[in-house]
Amino acid sequence: MDNSQNRAKVIDEIFAEDVRLGLSSSPKFLHSKYFYNEKGDKLFQEIMNLEEYYLTRAEYEIFDTHKSNLLQLFDQSDHGFQLIEFGAGDGLKTKVLLKSFLESKAEFTYVPIDISGNVLDILETDLKKTFPELQVEGIEDDYFRALKKLHLSGNSRKVVLFLGSNIGNFSKKQSIDFLKKVNVHLSDDDLIMIGFDLKKDPSVILQAYDDSKGVTREFNFNLLHRINNELGGEFDLDTFQHFPSYNPVTGETKSFLISKIRQEVYIHALDQTFSFLPWEPIYTEVSQKFNMVDVENLASKSGFKVKENYFDENSYFVDSVWGLS
Ligand code: AVI
Repeated sequence: MDNSQNRAKVIDEIFAEDVRLGLSSSPKFLHSKYFYNEKGDKLFQEIMNLEEYYLTRAEYEIFDTHKSNLLQLFDQSDHGFQLIEFGAGDGLKTKVLLKSFLESKAEFTYVPIDISGNVLDILETDLKKTFPELQVEGIEDDYFRALKKLHLSGNSRKVVLFLGSNIGNFSKKQSIDFLKKVNVHLSDDDLIMIGFDLKKDPSVILQAYDDSKGVTREFNFNLLHRINNELGGEFDLDTFQHFPSYNPVTGETKSFLISKIRQEVYIHALDQTFSFLPWEPIYTEVSQKFNMVDVENLASKSGFKVKENYFDENSYFVDSVWGLS
């Protein structure tokens, strides 16, 4: 693509400024939320189907095994409940629960929340086809504004789902802040179920973030692709390396893009050149792994009590259900 085309493009100013900040910092970083454009969403779907990426299968197994227990826990009043999902994606795992809850004639409404109206439209169309009897009321908004709306609008119990170890993509401090904010918008009777990826054999974890087909590598490289395509970056992708790491003490699985050579990279939209030393990393993502003490601590630090934990057969993953009291 030539420069005149780049200039003609509408630049996402927030993306541009985040890239400027991240590449000017030491150590350099890029925010993992920028993985998820159309291409990144497709790559993440592929990742979830990979043999090495055990997380999705483990959580699916948990839902399939414990769907009746989950319904008993969620559906405890005459008013039914609202099943509220943060960042629902294609809802594949959630469908196991929806199907089972519908078969049990439970009284509930499914409320997927996503900032992208497009994601919600696709999900709602798909759900209406698969489950014509399901009540779906998607909300296109920020999670907290959506929770506030729900708080004002109804008196049935709220059951919030935050699945897939999405919590792991926050730093420890960010997850406490996030959960405290959720807490404020819930009432005594409400619940939240969170999917946590657990500490395990480090080689199993590392393979999940360095799969043999190279899909995760491409997902990580999508950040540089986006900078090249959307901001007129001049990154030569062949001079970078995908590098995942796991720290068994902290549980942090961090991914990096590492410059194999000393180089200067110009980004047109920023009119700025960024220098890289040989083997200098750009930190791109944390995927935190937990043990059950970490889960308990996180619950108590954010004002919740653990009610129930559901594990897969390998104890690779836990879905932990919390309440306020
Ligand atoms: C979305 N999130 C929970 C994934 C994870 O495991 O941290 C994103 C991902 N990154 C690399 N592979 C998958």
